Amino acid sequence: MYQEVHARMCGIMGYVGPRQAAPLILDGLRRLEYRGYDSAGIAVANGDIHVRKAEGKIGRLASLLETDPLHGTVGIGHTRWATHGVPSDVNAHPHRDPSGRFVVVHNGIIENFHELRERLSAEGHLFESETDTEILAHLVALEYDGDIVAAVRRAVAHAEGAYALVVMTANEPGRIVAVRRVSPLIVGLGDGETFLASDIPAVLQHTRDFLIVEDGELVVVDADGATIEHIEGGRVDRAVMHVDWDAEQAEKGGYEHFMLKEIHEQPAVITETVGGRLDGEGEVWLEDVHFDDAFARAIDRVWITACGTALHAGLVGREIFQRILRLPTAVEYAHEMRYADPLVSAPSLTVAISQSGETADTLAAARLARQKGSRLLALTNVVGSTLSREADDVLYTRAGPEISVASTKAYMAMLIGEYLLALRIGRARGVVDEALSQRVAHGLHLLPAQVEHVLQAENDVAKAAHRIADAQDVYFIGRGLDYAVAMEGSLKLKEISYLHSEAMPAGELKHGTLALVTAGVPVIVVLTQGAVYDKTMSAVQEVKARGATVLAVAYEDDATIGAFADEVLRIPRTDDLLSPVASIVPLQLLAYHVARLRGHDIDQPRNLAKSVTVE
Ligand code: M6R
Repeated sequence: MYQEVHARMCGIMGYVGPRQAAPLILDGLRRLEYRGYDSAGIAVANGDIHVRKAEGKIGRLASLLETDPLHGTVGIGHTRWATHGVPSDVNAHPHRDPSGRFVVVHNGIIENFHELRERLSAEGHLFESETDTEILAHLVALEYDGDIVAAVRRAVAHAEGAYALVVMTANEPGRIVAVRRVSPLIVGLGDGETFLASDIPAVLQHTRDFLIVEDGELVVVDADGATIEHIEGGRVDRAVMHVDWDAEQAEKGGYEHFMLKEIHEQPAVITETVGGRLDGEGEVWLEDVHFDDAFARAIDRVWITACGTALHAGLVGREIFQRILRLPTAVEYAHEMRYADPLVSAPSLTVAISQSGETADTLAAARLARQKGSRLLALTNVVGSTLSREADDVLYTRAGPEISVASTKAYMAMLIGEYLLALRIGRARGVVDEALSQRVAHGLHLLPAQVEHVLQAENDVAKAAHRIADAQDVYFIGRGLDYAVAMEGSLKLKEISYLHSEAMPAGELKHGTLALVTAGVPVIVVLTQGAVYDKTMSAVQEVKARGATVLAVAYEDDATIGAFADEVLRIPRTDDLLSPVASIVPLQLLAYHVARLRGHDIDQPRNLAKSVTVE
């Protein structure tokens, strides 16, 4: 079955046919609203290219169109989730070239954006917006010699990254050309009309027949249908897919819940969060992190503050910073830190982690740290959020909007952000040599495929969930990075399954909690850290001796654990430093399947809100 697993959430909609394009596109964009966005726009070809676009909700664009309508039967539209440049009218898509004859919309990221922009600027090009998208409009126009397909093909040869690009020109009315490099694109086949979109829900009310454009393909759309080719050339035959989903299923990309969809988006989230920021040599470039090497060398302490899942990402961050940077790192619950008169001072770095960037306690703790002289870095998923605006530096996590209350892909992106930040600071401080940098860079580049591999074993996790579903209490244990992952695994389980669950360092068990471990009590152990493997195994033996049901998350090549655990959820071997990225995934799936077996509202657990903007 076709399932959409891409994280970048901008929306694309295009139309060629006999009807007026703008109202149809506007309607399609509304149906993509669930993906999240901060501005929207439409272009219609009618002799010339005419564009209307506006920051904010689609209602603003609709009002613009009411006062100043667009006429024409070929058009493209876009909802933007800001990455390069703040949300604004100017940065909203579509973007035109200087002649105004070419117009583009785009999802994803052009990794060599700076290089391309510098090159074009040196050649005299002027840009209106801060976006990477506008560059593509210039490139297509530059490459045009009478054939838009050839021009697009040549233009994308310059653009590195993971993206979907849609192009229209007034010179060749009646057709739209699009390219998929990772970011999704589908074609909806109507009767004498054709639709192009980033996702099926945009078009479902017009047709149920689709062509799925695959990675590395180019599609030419006109009113009679679409032809798909490889980007490098060569026709592709693609069977028509008939979809009988309802609108709600379509929004979830065919998954039963947003949480499951978001878990499956994680390989793409890793790719996007790393994209353009790390080369094979381990050189890191973080676009909105402004501190210089002198500051990085001066940092005497790192403070991490956050709540919930973001705090658990911080626990991983503490290990990474201490292990890679040998810098004292404290992780503080934001709601505690804000009232604790913490001993924060310069020259420290405070890393405030928040998916939403709007969590009231995290904002308060971050402000306090800044008042006390610490430099504030926001690790957040939302461009333009309060946290990002108040911070000195921002590292955006690029997970795309997260809809499920239980955070999964945002956590994943936070971990990746922390590795990148550690490399950036470590290079400046001279504690990360080229070999370590390359080792981590290599490991990070392998992770999307490794996480994909873990996701493919979902059925094993679903089976293991039966061992937990009727439990009263569940305990999670681990040491070091495994303990940090255990904390997050436990939170996931409790918030959606409503089972009582606790996580603790494996060594803490015998200082009290072991009294609660009796026959059949599930104990989940995360077991990836070679340096403390035997120590954690002792805890496993202690709980096993008391009749516990042991579930382990362990490497595929771990030949020991099988004899002690009732179930082993395997992950590919990674560098121990990077293991949380893979080891959290079976625990997310476990929480999901336990909650499903227990029949709960997985995406909207009781009593919880996605963003806690009050104290
Ligand atoms: O938006 P934030 O990352 O600041 O949110 C923090 C927590 O409220 C959040 O992580 C919460 O714990 C999640 N529901 C956990 O899945």
